[in-house]
Amino acid sequence: MSEVFHNGIVAAIATYAAVNIGRILWPGNDSSLGLKNWFHNQNVDIKYWKNKVCFITGASSGIGEALAILIAKSGGTVIACARRKEKLNQIANMVKDCDGKIIPHKLDVTNISEDDFKTFLQLNIISKFGKLDICVLNAGRGALGLAENLNMDNVKSLYELNVFSVIMQTKALIPVLKKQSNKANIVITSSLVGVLPNPGETLYTSSKHAIHGFFNALRPEVSEFANVLLVCPGPVSTEFGENRISGAVDGTEKGRKKSIYVSAERCAQLYAIAIQEIESKGHTEVWLAKNPFLLFAYLARYTPHLFAYVFKSVAKGMLPKE
Ligand SMILES: NC(=O)c1ccc[n+]([C@@H]2O[C@H](COP(=O)([O-])OP(=O)(O)OC[C@H]3O[C@@H](n4cnc5c(N)ncnc54)[C@H](OP(=O)(O)O)[C@@H]3O)[C@@H](O)[C@H]2O)c1
Repeated sequence: MSEVFHNGIVAAIATYAAVNIGRILWPGNDSSLGLKNWFHNQNVDIKYWKNKVCFITGASSGIGEALAILIAKSGGTVIACARRKEKLNQIANMVKDCDGKIIPHKLDVTNISEDDFKTFLQLNIISKFGKLDICVLNAGRGALGLAENLNMDNVKSLYELNVFSVIMQTKALIPVLKKQSNKANIVITSSLVGVLPNPGETLYTSSKHAIHGFFNALRPEVSEFANVLLVCPGPVSTEFGENRISGAVDGTEKGRKKSIYVSAERCAQLYAIAIQEIESKGHTEVWLAKNPFLLFAYLARYTPHLFAYVFKSVAKGMLPKE
């Protein structure tokens, strides 16, 4: 009897593992298991987004733009921020006939004090809508180049945007969210490089690792009034490549096949589904990427020794040609 029981348990575990490995490898798979339904049949839930008030930074292009449009089309209100106001106006215009709306604001997140940012939140969100449901801290920039060639001014400016401004905004958001009766969601666009090391992108990789450390430690501090979700995309086709520090030295990008990129629209769809499932599925971190990136993330997180062994042979080929 106990042998039958034992064999049954082993068979159940083996089946579970085989199903999940199949799901990771499934052609076209582009999101972590938490988000994955068979045949990609998940949809953005319009009931969830209706009347939600969302604040998004970096909404003038790429992932932030696609997410803002998707939320507005699903009935939400998006307070959309970036430095390029004209771009934001155009995007707001694109959804003017939808149920929801995009309200553009020119905001340089690296050039605003904590007090001014608090005032911004109060004047443009809380006084107008009485609540803030979802804060998407998405503005960010990449950097490509070997560590020995890093320019310290670039190091500081990248950290200013990818790390310090995000910490400042979070600090300012906490007292606002604490006062609300509804539980809010703080969502950060990290990257799969926050999970995996990316040689040739030491500066960018380190900035996203810092974000993981900060928000994973923050989660229990704010759990009474806010959820914290780290969204980690792999390569997404946006302006990110051109906007990177040392963007001209583009060894890895040029060698990459178009097929490895997830479109900004698909990324935004999975991003929105992850947010709407924070409460029901308890997401704290989601990965949005195609293989082999997704598979590497699983290896790195769950079998670090095997990952280190495999990575040794592929890492050299990932270095930019300078
Ligand atoms: N694309 C990818 O492959 C990829 C992969 C993983 C993670 N990510 C992350 O995704 C996020 C969005 O990047 P993306 O791919 O959508 O790139 P993108 O198209 O270059 O978008 C970056 C956004 O950030 C805004 N921004 C930059 N500096 C800012 C500042 N000082 N103040 C306010 N806004 C600022 C830009 O708007 P303005 O220029 O108008 O200010 C733009 O809207 C970043 O955090 C990035 O690290 C991207």
